[in-house]
Amino acid sequence: MNVTVTLNGAPVTDDVTPDTTLYEFLRAHGCKSVKCGCETTNCGLCTVWLDDAPVLSCAVLAVRADGRSVTTLEGLQDQSARLARCLAEQGAEQCGFCSPGLVMNVLAFERELAGRVPADEEIRRFLAGNLCRCTGYMSQMRAIKRYLGCPDPGAWPGAAGASGPAAAGTAARPAPVPVAPAKEVPTHER
Ligand code: FES
Ligand code: FES
Repeated sequence: MNVTVTLNGAPVTDDVTPDTTLYEFLRAHGCKSVKCGCETTNCGLCTVWLDDAPVLSCAVLAVRADGRSVTTLEGLQDQSARLARCLAEQGAEQCGFCSPGLVMNVLAFERELAGRVPADEEIRRFLAGNLCRCTGYMSQMRAIKRYLGCPDPGAWPGAAGASGPAAAGTAARPAPVPVAPAKEVPTHER
């Protein structure tokens, strides 16, 4: 059966079998950022946006995406650049296998926050489905908090908010802390 999706802004049509997953469809169309770690909706590696909402592409049939818009990290290169630098700066990219799915979810979370500064627990809850086999959660958390402008006294020398705690959850987000260009950014093509 024919399926047509708007993939990263461009129309793509293919003849798929009824059991083709969105994950398989995307990989077959060059979206190598989309990884598969479990196929059982447990790891979050296959996260993409379907009509701008994050979904696990291993658990969505390609036919369900017919006529809809799908976004992968390939379509968010500019939007993800600063977050990628934050992850690299904090050593959070490690093997990089989980990074694309994590980035997709953090960017979706950021949009949902609409400029509000989240509490740590809120970040952990939103990202609970993104597993990292390298167990790099502390460095990921540091990078995400830095990216989202969270106050973390003492953690960021010279960073905004370093002089005292702000009311996370209600405070408006401060201006982004500049992140030096990293020598190395996580590759999404592994
Ligand atoms: S591959 Fe989809 S959640 Fe693990
Ligand atoms: S960085 Fe290795 S799985 Fe996350």
